[in-house]
Amino acid sequence: MKKLIIINGPNLNLLGTREPEIYGSLSFTEFLEEIKGKYPQADLDYYQSNVEGELINKLQEVGFSYDGIILNAAAYTHTSVGIGDAINAIKTPVVEVHISNTFSREEFRHTSYVSPNAKGVILGFGLQSYELAIQSFL
Ligand code: DQA
Repeated sequence: MKKLIIINGPNLNLLGTREPEIYGSLSFTEFLEEIKGKYPQADLDYYQSNVEGELINKLQEVGFSYDGIILNAAAYTHTSVGIGDAINAIKTPVVEVHISNTFSREEFRHTSYVSPNAKGVILGFGLQSYELAIQSFL
């Protein structure tokens, strides 16, 4: 059994209602129930915060005991040196995910402080990006 956690950053609590043309119309809670049933080999936890420091606290808390972290740092991806440093400071591998293809969007989304320190990056496949990340750890 692999101990995994999905960590979602700011505004991802509004999935389903937030810009559905980009992010889809399924809420994350609905999606989470679906994937928990689909991957019984994963002991899957979930954490979401809109607060940068809370995301760093969570990375530190799980980063020495879990088998894998699936991180969508959302807007902080493009701004947070602190989240990038936290990934370097922990032992658990991090797979960076994004729902949208950030490279086909505005220029400011082309920079990531997560990518250089991530094990891998999966983006642009909608919510399926998370599933591909889970599969990568199983
Ligand atoms: C996102 C892409 C980010 O640029 C954006 O700020 C988000 C969501 C994605 O999953 O596509 O909030 O991380």
